[in-house]
Amino acid sequence: HKATMMIDKDIVISPIDERLYGSFIEHMGRAVYGGIFEEGHPEADEQGFRSDVLNLVRQLNVPIIRYPGGNMVSAYNWEDGVGPKENRHRKLDLAWRTIETNQFGTNEFIDWTRKAGSDVMMAVNLGTRGIEEARNFIEYCNHPGGSYWSDLRRQHGYEKPHDIKTWCLGNEMDGPWQVGQKTPEEYGRLAKETAKALKLVDPTIELVSCGSSGSGMPTFPEWEAVTLDHTYEEVDYVSLHQYFGNQDNDSQNYLAGTMELEHFIHTVTSVCDYLKAKKRSKKTMMLSFDEWNVWYHSADQDKEMEPWQTAPPILEDVYNFEDALLVGGILITFLRHADRIKMACMAQLVNVIAPIMTETGGAAWKQTIFYPYMQASVYGRGVSLQAVISSPKFDTKDFTDVAAVDSAVVYNEDAGEVVIFALNRDLKNDVVAEAYLHHFANPRVIEHSVLENDDLKAVNTAFQESVKPHANGENSWEQDHLQLKLKAASWNMIRVK
Ligand code: AHR
Repeated sequence: HKATMMIDKDIVISPIDERLYGSFIEHMGRAVYGGIFEEGHPEADEQGFRSDVLNLVRQLNVPIIRYPGGNMVSAYNWEDGVGPKENRHRKLDLAWRTIETNQFGTNEFIDWTRKAGSDVMMAVNLGTRGIEEARNFIEYCNHPGGSYWSDLRRQHGYEKPHDIKTWCLGNEMDGPWQVGQKTPEEYGRLAKETAKALKLVDPTIELVSCGSSGSGMPTFPEWEAVTLDHTYEEVDYVSLHQYFGNQDNDSQNYLAGTMELEHFIHTVTSVCDYLKAKKRSKKTMMLSFDEWNVWYHSADQDKEMEPWQTAPPILEDVYNFEDALLVGGILITFLRHADRIKMACMAQLVNVIAPIMTETGGAAWKQTIFYPYMQASVYGRGVSLQAVISSPKFDTKDFTDVAAVDSAVVYNEDAGEVVIFALNRDLKNDVVAEAYLHHFANPRVIEHSVLENDDLKAVNTAFQESVKPHANGENSWEQDHLQLKLKAASWNMIRVK
């Protein structure tokens, strides 16, 4: 089994927007309470932020974090989460049917992201609310002062504006589960008018229009066509969301699932370009893949959850090794579409379908999916290269001609290195890949990291890290090319200088 990779550092798909490696913190489950924020925890700092969690987040080098939802934002009043904590009310969160204590809100999140080294992607409520509350909110966050809402922020102890550059116009407004679900016409009009108002307050911001909640929605892709017809000239991105699961326990088919993702990206791109043509617009709409991950392990246990608890353990998927392989495949797919996908958020970051898990009052640890995400985020910076890759192929239940080797190649000019991310998703056969690196006279492999495991279902716990990469990948220089051994069912990162 042999693959070839033709790599030329001058044949470029696009510069990679670092926001491709974003993530998401929603006010739900134990993401905030017991996750990033836990007063009284031995690792809590003076603001109650868990420093053990912050350290793990920093290792991921997360450039941007979406907040505060998710479904939660569609019935959330941002005013409940600002000002003196003793005056904040306990409210019902209708999305997850829990109690929101509001002891953590916008300003705390801004402080937390500064400590994490991340920017904020803020979402406004277009479910139960509209233009008025959204314009007040951006005035509170971004206006320097001398107006009611900006002065209120200053009174709350934040003299300088938060200067939040990226804003989402609601969340999954096509979904019947969404509080305040809209038809495409209703959403398109509301989003356009809200966009106008937000940009009048701060013309430097960028806006995301809600796409479908997934490619399986009955209104996809008509939703995109109708809503963008309204919002096209006011917004900068359309959102995409997709979650994966191996419900049938067919791992070979599961790992081929990124082919569906490819198709989804192509379809949304095509709808955007159709509208560009229809409107005779000069603007190319970019994509914000602002929710993606594996989500299915916790589904059954969540059905049993009692309502109206505070920070209950919901959506706490425990990820296994094959999930980490799929996550690697998703990141590879995004890199190959770096010309259109400018932002993407792994959903989510802590405890809720997350790479980082904690025990409330106890330890924090890395789930299996932490590793491909970290490696892509730390080393996948620079430009995405148009490598020509040929690979052995196979068929699965739902997909034909699945490439065993799925790969993306990055050139980081600052570091002077080429980084090959390669997934061998054939569960049985090793593949030998021959990589031809033009423009590299004496290439030297400085790291060949491999994530592999005999057990596709192996997981990490607070006490045992069964799934983590090792640096002993097999490779050799053969006259004019690099020979890489890509083991069956493995994620590889090869850095060449
Ligand atoms: O990330 C979990 C949920 O998935 C989000 O709240 C929602 O936007 C999506 O349906």
